[in-house]
This record gives sequence, structure tokens and C-alpha cells, in this order.
Amino acid sequence: MIKLSPSILSANFVRLEEEIKILEKEGIEYVHIDVMDGMFVPNISIGMPVIKSIRKVTNLTLDAHFMIEKPERYIDEFISLGCDIINFHYEATDKHNEIIKKIKDANKKVGMTIKPKTSYKEILPYLKDLDLVLVMSVEPGFGGQKFMEDSLEKVSEIRKYINENNLKCELEIDGGIKLDNVEKALKAGADVIVVGSDIFEKEDKALAIKQYKDIFEKF
Ligand code: DX5
Ligand code: ZN
Repeated sequence: MIKLSPSILSANFVRLEEEIKILEKEGIEYVHIDVMDGMFVPNISIGMPVIKSIRKVTNLTLDAHFMIEKPERYIDEFISLGCDIINFHYEATDKHNEIIKKIKDANKKVGMTIKPKTSYKEILPYLKDLDLVLVMSVEPGFGGQKFMEDSLEKVSEIRKYINENNLKCELEIDGGIKLDNVEKALKAGADVIVVGSDIFEKEDKALAIKQYKDIFEKF
């Protein structure tokens, strides 16, 4: 089943609970939360207190995408905040196995993300231990950027590897997804789709979600 993971980076933060209730009502699968530290990426977004507050108002699966340098410093906090999926960047650490083990030992799902310039081959050795792999289709840091077409080939290669090796790892794509290019990502083999601005900047967010779901039905 294809899952939708709306990114609240483009949400109205003073009405976050209301916006999350719309997501719940529309039956979305994951809530994508972008955490940025101003070091790993040139932007600062939201952090721990906000995730904690979100956890209090929803039971939806929280798909937290940590764009931070040396994520190993905060894994315990991420676990205690109630994130369901803890997703860190391959490029941000050299402690991959240690982080994966810690997250799994806490019975949380673990994801690893690669930036556009990172080869998919770098993460293949980790896939057997991951619940999710995230291919960035924009340079991480900002919502509303243009989709990078060359991410599609990475998605297909990773999909091939997952299928050939019979792995359970989900394959997520994030950045620049719109109603008119999402099919390309699905065809390439992505099964978790992050959408930020194309949902939250629309007047009718529920309708936008329905439109994505209609497309997903074809796959
Ligand atoms: C960018 C974030 C994305 C972002 C996607 O660094 O990881 O999740 O919110 O936003 P759109 O869908 O607008 O590209
Ligand atoms: Zn993200």
C-alpha cells in the first residue's frame, strides 16, 4: 500500500492541531516532521518541544526526518519524544550501526536518508536493517523547491535492490512532489510519498489529500 506522509513544514504553525486533525480525518498514514539544525542544512525549523506537543494531540504515526549534524547526540531524546519513525541522514554521522541499533532496541522504526548528491550505493549495505530509506528529491533545508528528476533513477535502483533481496524496508521520497509528478515517483517504486507545500499551501487541504489518494489507487 502506498502511504502519504504530509510534511508539516509548510503547515500553519499557529494552527498546527487543526491542520493535523484534517490529516487524521483524511486518513493519511504518516505525519512527516522536518527537524533542522542550521548546521547540517542552512535552515532552522522546529525541534523537540513541538514534537512533544504534536504527540499529545494525535496517534498518527510520526515520521520524523532529522536534518541534523551528529544525530547520535540526541537519539535518546528522539525516542522519548514519541517519534514512531526516526529518520537520520547518512551524511550526518559515521555512527550508522550504533544509531540503528539504539533505535531498534527501543522498538522504534529506523530510517536513513540520502541527499541528492549521495549515491544510492552508499546505503545499500544498511537496507537489511532499516525500516525505511528516504531519497531526497531536493537539497534538504526548505519546502517548495523544484523536484530533481535524477532522484527517480536512485529510487528505481533502491526498489530493485529491496525486491531482489526480499527486504521489508519502505522507500520514501521527499521534496518537490506535486500532483503532476507524483506518478513518476510511484512508477520508480517509491511507496511513501512526502508532500509539503502541495498540500498545506492549498486552500482545500482535504481535497489535495483526496487527489493524491486517487492517484495512489492506480498503483
Ligand atoms: C525539505 C524537507 C521536506 C519538505 C518538502 O528539506 O525535508 O520534507 O517539507 O516540502 P515540499 O513538498 O514543498 O517540497
Ligand atoms: Zn523531510
